[in-house]
Amino acid sequence: MAALTVSGTVRVPGDKSISHRALICAALADGVSHVRNVLESADVRSTASVLHALGVAIPTLGPTITVSGSGLRGLRAASVALDCGNSGTTARLMAGVVAGHAFTSRFTGDESLSRRPMRRVAKPLEAMGAAVELTAGERLPMTIRGGHLRSITWSSDRASAQVKSAIMLAALVAGVDASVSEPERSRDHTERMLRSLGADVRVDGLSVSLGATRSLAALDVDVPADPSSAAFFAALAALAESGSIDLPGVCLNPTRTGFFRVLGRMGASVRVVEETERNGEPVGMLRVSPAGLKAVTITAQEVPSLIDELPLVACLAARAEGETHITGASELRVKESDRIAAVVANLRSLGVEADELPDGMRVRGSARTLKGRIATHADHRIAMAFGVLGAIPGNEIVVDDPDCCAVSFPDFWARLAHATNHPRGR
Ligand code: S3P
Repeated sequence: MAALTVSGTVRVPGDKSISHRALICAALADGVSHVRNVLESADVRSTASVLHALGVAIPTLGPTITVSGSGLRGLRAASVALDCGNSGTTARLMAGVVAGHAFTSRFTGDESLSRRPMRRVAKPLEAMGAAVELTAGERLPMTIRGGHLRSITWSSDRASAQVKSAIMLAALVAGVDASVSEPERSRDHTERMLRSLGADVRVDGLSVSLGATRSLAALDVDVPADPSSAAFFAALAALAESGSIDLPGVCLNPTRTGFFRVLGRMGASVRVVEETERNGEPVGMLRVSPAGLKAVTITAQEVPSLIDELPLVACLAARAEGETHITGASELRVKESDRIAAVVANLRSLGVEADELPDGMRVRGSARTLKGRIATHADHRIAMAFGVLGAIPGNEIVVDDPDCCAVSFPDFWARLAHATNHPRGR
């Protein structure tokens, strides 16, 4: 069996979370914003088209885009439903934005998004004074009647950047102040971006507050590479026999880099070769080389910093020595799919010993070759995580819906094939 040697540089696309926020802030700013390296993927297009439906002149996404802002309360009622596609970030962040506007908006989404919980954003927005109607008490379609919001102090029962951001954006648009606390720190891109545009944002432990804001300055931003996309190539390098992969320009915000810390604990060499700061976000080049991987334990406190990478950790665990335990991650059950059920069922179908826990999973590693067909449930991160395992020589893994990667990483398979010299869709 040929051994996998990796080398060279993989430039992954722009960060998805920062791309959504850059478009939203550009739409709400005064003046003309410039956004470079925005992620050109289906999820970010959903945010662009929702903003477009609300009257913002958002151009077709490209390497550099220019957006003429409408000001903080300048959006217009849409004449159509706001279709968020597969994107939870679009639905939840835009719910906050429209809640601050005195008109009615209706949100819809695809089958997966229509199953996901929305009450978590409806509750604080109602507490601020918006009227929110959900389907079956919890889901999309969701109708929001906004305007005249009051300030809020909200204690969130989960670490969710989408909930925190919805509240902050609603307060921003309404010109009131808001304070949100959460049990663990979730990604803080909204806070960093608003602060860099002149808003009064304060962080105190696990609480963040936003002072009443009159206007937002236009942005001039380079979106850094997405650590969640870089993670797949870091994992590939860790699983290889020899060599290393360089991942330049990656967002190294500590609320997003839990996966790289875990990869280091599993034994791989993960080095930050150069680090700088751009637009309030730490950015740097990662160099990852292989190692004999060991099992790892991940608990609640660490989960928010690698929530989207847990399927990939489980796939790595299948090749690591010992038993990996992931707990405190019940949020995985309400992502684009039930990622606990989907990951465990797929690992088992490949012959890996794995068990579901209510809030996580257990995976026992081995060196056996893995063969089978992966049911992605149209979930991009399931497809890509198992795609990495499938790229290891000897494994024969077919992913049932490779195209679902388009929501976050449209040319993932081409990049993977290039990094491994394997043809697509093995
Ligand atoms: C995101 C926040 C996370 C993450 C999602 C993107 C964001 O979700 O899983 O992929 O951009 O704010 P939660 O806020 O629901 O944890």
